[in-house]
Amino acid sequence: MFYIIGLGLSDEKDITLRGLEAVKGSSRVYLEAYTSILMISQERLEAFYQKPIILADRDMVETQSDEILANADTEDVSLLVVGDPLGATTHTDIVLRARALGIPTRVIHNASIMNAVGACGLQLYNFGQTVSLVFFTETWKPDSYYDRVKENVKLGMHTLVLLDIKVKEQSEENLARGRKIYEPPRYMSIPTAVSQMLHTESERSEDVLSPETTLAIALSRVGGDADQQRIVAGTLKELLEQPEEAFGEPLHSIVIVGKRVHHMEIEYAEEYAVDKQNWRRVAKEVYGCAEL
Ligand SMILES: C[S@@+](CC[C@H](N)C(=O)[O-])C[C@H]1O[C@@H](n2cnc3c(N)ncnc32)[C@H](O)[C@@H]1O
Repeated sequence: MFYIIGLGLSDEKDITLRGLEAVKGSSRVYLEAYTSILMISQERLEAFYQKPIILADRDMVETQSDEILANADTEDVSLLVVGDPLGATTHTDIVLRARALGIPTRVIHNASIMNAVGACGLQLYNFGQTVSLVFFTETWKPDSYYDRVKENVKLGMHTLVLLDIKVKEQSEENLARGRKIYEPPRYMSIPTAVSQMLHTESERSEDVLSPETTLAIALSRVGGDADQQRIVAGTLKELLEQPEEAFGEPLHSIVIVGKRVHHMEIEYAEEYAVDKQNWRRVAKEVYGCAEL
């Protein structure tokens, strides 16, 4: 059996009992380590499972999946994925490959940022399309995400914005020269995300995002211990003005609040607002939350 097992969002204790049983019974255990990070080290996971873990980079999962799937028709093999295996990053390719090889597969679910985002007080029912924001470079500033945000904004829905992770990336020069030298990992922070979004707004000028009147909620290390998880709410401008430390360690995500927001969502999130009065004022005057 080929198991794909969600690890949840925080540490070794978030795996489900069902997932743990599968890990214990597997002859090989891989950890997908390029689309998300766990808040603990590989060693701590290995100590908890009492078995070695093989790190699977993008190359291995996407192009050399046969190595992972070898013998999975006769023994149990597990691939561990941070969050939920089918949440945000879908690992459908490897499941399709396993099916094509006649290997039985089983997905073991867990919490994902896609549902844990509810920690900020906004209702999951009121979310539109999730978007991903990639690191801009001097010459490449992709803005297709802006169209999705615009569609959500039109419908009054909230937008979950997932932020880029660069793990095991090569510099352009090393790539061109075929040198397998990798850059240190980079995780996009809230201030970078907000400034990139405002850059796109200034280029496109379609009135989707406004520094002073768009409300947003920054989330860091959701699911972590109380000293790890951070939620900070405010206008885009207010978030941009916060020192980088205000948002804590990566991973970070940001939610753009939609106009159909309910007053109870605003009241819940007010707890996290950098300026509670302004949060309420914008919600009332700009978002039309009359009941506040
Ligand atoms: C490509 S997604 C992978 C999601 C994962 N498979 C899951 O189901 O949660 C990775 C992005 O999700 C967001 N993310 C994941 N875990 C997070 C957490 N605990 N707190 C805040 N954001 C998180 C970050 O923006 C990160 O860059």
